[in-house]
Amino acid sequence: MNDRQPSIVVDGVSLAYEIPVNATSSAKEYLINLVKRRIIYEKFWALHDVDLELHRGEVLGIIGPNGAGKSTLMKVLAGVLPPTTGRVIVRGTVSPMIEVSGGMNGELTGRENIVLVGALLGRSPRLMRERVPAIAEWAGLSDFLDVPVRTYSTGMRARLGFAIATDRKPDVLLIDEVLSVGDESFRGKSLQRIRDLMDGGTTVVMVSHALAMVERLCRTVMWLDRGRVKAVGPAEEIIAAYREAV
Ligand SMILES: Nc1ncnc2c1ncn2[C@@H]1O[C@H](COP(=O)(O)OP(=O)(O)OP(=O)(O)O)[C@@H](O)[C@H]1O
Ligand SMILES: [Mg+2]
Repeated sequence: MNDRQPSIVVDGVSLAYEIPVNATSSAKEYLINLVKRRIIYEKFWALHDVDLELHRGEVLGIIGPNGAGKSTLMKVLAGVLPPTTGRVIVRGTVSPMIEVSGGMNGELTGRENIVLVGALLGRSPRLMRERVPAIAEWAGLSDFLDVPVRTYSTGMRARLGFAIATDRKPDVLLIDEVLSVGDESFRGKSLQRIRDLMDGGTTVVMVSHALAMVERLCRTVMWLDRGRVKAVGPAEEIIAAYREAV
């Protein structure tokens, strides 16, 4: 990969969710309307004209109130939601952790989920089976490998998801809140792992309401408010302004 090319470019991105306005009470009625094309959608703009450029090894924190559009922007970066207008370029391999479930299936065991999520990240089942002990060990879940993930606590799921996503060095790591559900020891371990990835050139975008953690990890912070970039700049400065405002 060319180091001088930005690893993430977001250029004038706006995103509208389509919300059905004539919502019906029954699934049957909804299907009839759908087939007859009688459903009327209203656009809700969750992102307005967002610009962003990040280079290899940079770490960006995204903060802002509930409903500001942070997770929406992460989904756009992950390629899950195509922008309604504007352009997004993300270069290299991407490890998205944008939901605690992280593509896991609750009915499958921890062991099976390691292989499943690995496949979603483009890693071979054979490699993932080899990596099971190391991933479980790092996540502190070696004793829980053979029970269904639905029996895990939220923090345990986050540990497993993070351990899988960071088992191989991705070019881009996207983390939405996942770390805040972990306990102190997991947070410490994952911060160290993120720092190691950064040193290795991984570009990181993290969304969090844990402002102290964002301040510790990120040099640059973007403040989103009602879908717009309210401010972007040095972490300390932006976080102080945000704290002041809320
Ligand atoms: N699938 C969807 N359909 C319609 N509207 C949505 C959808 N997902 C999110 N929204 C709306 O888009 C806006 C931004 O939501 P988003 O989840 O990106 O916020 P957020 O900044 O991540 O908030 P939080 O801090 O609570 O996680 C909200 O007003 C939300 O209601
Ligand atoms: Mg969110």
